[in-house]
Amino acid sequence: MIGRLNHVAIAVPDLGAATKLYRDALGATVSEPQQLPEHGVTVVFVELPNSKVELLEPLGEASPIGKFLESSPAGGMHHICYEVDDILAARDHLKAEGARVLGDGQPKTGAHGKPVLFLHPKDFAGTLVELEQV
Ligand code: CO
Repeated sequence: MIGRLNHVAIAVPDLGAATKLYRDALGATVSEPQQLPEHGVTVVFVELPNSKVELLEPLGEASPIGKFLESSPAGGMHHICYEVDDILAARDHLKAEGARVLGDGQPKTGAHGKPVLFLHPKDFAGTLVELEQV
C-alpha cells in the first residue's frame, strides 16, 4: 500500500543552526523557512537526490513538537512520511488493521499542500508515521 519515502522529519530547537548545518557542513540545498500555524511548526526542506529531510522548529505555545524537544533538547528524528495513492482508503485499511489514526481522523493539508494523516507511534514500532497522498 505505501509507496515512496516522501521525507524524514527531524525536530530541532534552532532552525537557523540546523539549516546552517545541513547547508554548510553537509552541502545540501535547503529551502527558505515556511511557517505552518495549523501544524505548530516552522519547516525547511532539505532536498536530497532521492528524498527530502524536513527540519521542524516549534511555532507557538501549543506546538506538537514542544514536548518532544523537552525530552530530546538537542533535537531528534520526529517522524517518517510515506506516500499513498488514496489517503482515505489507506486510513480505512489501517483502522481495520487496528492502527490508531491521530486527531479526528480527517486528513489535514500538510507542508506540501497535500492531504496528510499521522499514525500512532505505539502501533508502528515506536515511530510516528505520516501518510501523504501524492
Ligand atoms: Co512530515
